[in-house]
Amino acid sequence: MPEPARRPLISGNWKMNINHLETIQVVQKLAYRLTPADTGAADVSIHPPFTSLRSAQTVIDSDELPISLGAQNCHWEASGAFTGEISPVMLAKLNVRYVIVGHSERRQMMGEDDVMVSRKAGAVFANGMVPIVCVGETLDEREAGTTAAVVSGQVAASLDGLSPAQVGAMVLAYEPIWAIGTGRNATPEDAQEVAGIIRALIGERWGAPAAATVRLQYGGSVRPDNAAELLAAPDVDGALVGGASLDPDGLAAIVAAISQ
Ligand code: PGA
Repeated sequence: MPEPARRPLISGNWKMNINHLETIQVVQKLAYRLTPADTGAADVSIHPPFTSLRSAQTVIDSDELPISLGAQNCHWEASGAFTGEISPVMLAKLNVRYVIVGHSERRQMMGEDDVMVSRKAGAVFANGMVPIVCVGETLDEREAGTTAAVVSGQVAASLDGLSPAQVGAMVLAYEPIWAIGTGRNATPEDAQEVAGIIRALIGERWGAPAAATVRLQYGGSVRPDNAAELLAAPDVDGALVGGASLDPDGLAAIVAAISQ
């Protein structure tokens, strides 16, 4: 059978959880739980805090585990006087493959805007990695009926300057802010509607080939019990999982929703 055009990607965003010692066990347990059918059906990435990246890399590389290493953020410059920041060059050196960019917690709490997000996405690509750019509306915006406009605006501005080939190779995560960490997930219909809007916009701006291959994740209270229906939406190519990814059994069960 030919490979599907868009291989699903399930990403575990650990946020500010799991220290570098705990990381070793969590990664080993996740690898043990993932079956060959799981890793045959989907790509799996984990996004530990910066201080845990080296531990995760060591386990993944030495045991040749079928898990991709990811980061949660990076700066856009390669080096310099940026106290407290981590450069994409440093992440690439750790065999990081995916970098989450513009998560709503960073947009809301750390003041990241679309211009910063687009610089970061470009820098991630320039260093041979793949950005996972996050977009999503607040509850007020949804209730005001502006979801499509807000998300379209974020996509257009956050991907500004990327080439069609880059957009076709990247990952976009649609994460309604009201669904993140709240236990209240979007319905599969809502997730599909917004994913469809994003894919159509990408087709208009970056061309049909980019729209056909860009991977669109849904994020926001994805759990083992709701993953199958959310991932069945035709334009949803995976999930960005926060809370449920801290338990390797939970993340593996979400991957199994694809392979079964
Ligand atoms: P959640 O977080 O799964 O805990 O809702 C998702 C995210 O922030 O990526």
